Amino acid sequence: MKILGIETSCDETAAAVVEKKSTDENVRLLSNVVVSSLPLHAKTGGIIPETAAREQIKYVIPVINEAIEQCNNLTIDDIDAIAVTIGPGLIGSLLVGVETAKTLAFIWQKPIIPVNHLFGHIYANFVCEDSKLNPAMAGQKSKIEFPAIALVVSGGHTDLVLMKDDKKLRWLGGTRDDAAGEAFDKIGRLLKLPYPGGPAIEGAALGGNPRAFHFPRPMIDSNDFDFSFSGLKASVFREVKTIKQLSDKTISDISASVQEAIVDVLVFKTLKAAQEYKVKSILLGGGVAANQKLRSELKSSIINHKSSIKFFVPSKSLCTDNAAMIATAAFFNYKEVPWQNLTANPELYFD
Ligand code: KG4
Ligand code: ZN
Repeated sequence: MKILGIETSCDETAAAVVEKKSTDENVRLLSNVVVSSLPLHAKTGGIIPETAAREQIKYVIPVINEAIEQCNNLTIDDIDAIAVTIGPGLIGSLLVGVETAKTLAFIWQKPIIPVNHLFGHIYANFVCEDSKLNPAMAGQKSKIEFPAIALVVSGGHTDLVLMKDDKKLRWLGGTRDDAAGEAFDKIGRLLKLPYPGGPAIEGAALGGNPRAFHFPRPMIDSNDFDFSFSGLKASVFREVKTIKQLSDKTISDISASVQEAIVDVLVFKTLKAAQEYKVKSILLGGGVAANQKLRSELKSSIINHKSSIKFFVPSKSLCTDNAAMIATAAFFNYKEVPWQNLTANPELYFD
């Protein structure tokens, strides 16, 4: 079975074709095309929804065409279904993908599968990838065992989810204010780093001392699986205000210290959930999962706990927004809806 995925929830316009044979555990990637309007937003230091939606309109058809063309000899007849992100996200951006998917479903007479973007970030772990592309998978059997804990860390969300099997998801906790990616982005702005702050802070942190500043680890000891990152941002703000001129060295030290604080909380709470639910696998997903410090700290903490839990994280290009994860999520949550009933829901969350 082959699914065409379409993702337009924010500033990426993406389309992908993935295949799953009935005998396969995982999903094979046939094509994966992503175009981003990020450079336009970098100029203004944040995403302008109107600009993002206009760019989605410009790119959605060329990106879909390219995703189909990249699959050798694939015809429209070979596509079994269309999967599209219906939320959460920016309403203008979401509508472009949803209306395009509806039109194609009608013209091509294909079933349409609505997908929750957050599920997509989890199911990115179910895409079969070359171990060269994804070193976290090297030497490891690519079989996810259940129960599993998934940590979704993106620009808008920080959530811990229990997976009893490859379809049953139960939300355990999430951020009460800023998401981890949002904290990176806002702190990046305080440090006058380019947008988005996540990769910029990761870059600046490379030469920095993570113990130069002690920033709070919010809610690390709370008796639940919730997060809070707005206090961390406020603490960095107070620190920055006391510094007359931010030197490159100070920016590096603050970046390394902030990154360490965020990673500490994410790793601690994920392991806590993993122990409480006696899981066999931990899955990481979302844009912040592209952060090398988070990837390696989570992996080494699992090893340090002498735990046999398997760790999965997609290659970095499948952590940030893409359509391969949306098409993959559709295989595991295959619920066709008549195209007439499909609507975008910017507030969609875990049920
Ligand atoms: O999943 P994503 O591409 O879009 C949303 O669904 O929000 O995530 C974007 C977020 C941004 O906040 C960005 O700063 C963060 O992911 N991000 C990173 C890194 N790459 C992207 N955060 C930390 N380190 C990175 N390398
Ligand atoms: Zn995302």
